[in-house]
Amino acid sequence: MQEKTTSQKPRGALIALEGIDGSGKSTQSRMLAGRMRREGIPCYTTMEPTDSPFGSLIRQILTGRLKTDNRAIAPLFVADRLDHLLNDVNGILHKIEEGTIVITDRYYFSSYAYQGVDLPMDWVIKANEPNSSILRPTVTVFLDITPELALERISANRHQKELFEEKSRLAQVREKYIEAFQVLKGVEQVAVIDGNGSPQEIADAVWKTVSRYMATS
Ligand code: TMP
Repeated sequence: MQEKTTSQKPRGALIALEGIDGSGKSTQSRMLAGRMRREGIPCYTTMEPTDSPFGSLIRQILTGRLKTDNRAIAPLFVADRLDHLLNDVNGILHKIEEGTIVITDRYYFSSYAYQGVDLPMDWVIKANEPNSSILRPTVTVFLDITPELALERISANRHQKELFEEKSRLAQVREKYIEAFQVLKGVEQVAVIDGNGSPQEIADAVWKTVSRYMATS
């Protein structure tokens, strides 16, 4: 089997949206895709965990239906991400090579931040090297909101809480995101956007950032 590496330079781009639960990533993913389509830019939206069998196993753990150790959860995210990149049906690496702009709601910084709460972050970063060596995002956009607002939004929108949706946990995850951005400064392109405003204000800021990175990539 031929190994896929970054030496086959992608022609599209990967935009990764990141943030704590309730930060508005899925709304912003939709709004960014809408803006791109209006600009005539071919784009594809996707998310992690994915809807693959790996992703559905992860969702069962997140909802508490399945229980396992944190050291087992982290590699499941790694496997889901590799499949997300490489699978033959809708793998995003192929789409990017064809010139599509892929917008993903979460990518490996989610693992650094969420799994980094329970496990050493350098372990998680190392575990994700198969992914980062295949494809680094053109830009990772972090929607930064307060854990208080995040929890308000989660409570308004959902009946069932997932594993990581507690205020103190969200605060820890936010800290871990910031730590990961520091650790990978100079390696990863990251833009932090204030996510506490209105959806349209945030969408304008996201578009400004993304279009700048796409122009220089
Ligand atoms: P979602 O709420 O954005 O769909 O994400 C589901 C949960 O999965 C969310 O609490 C964050 C968590 N997660 C991780 O812990 N590690 C990861 O690598 C990813 C992609 C998600």
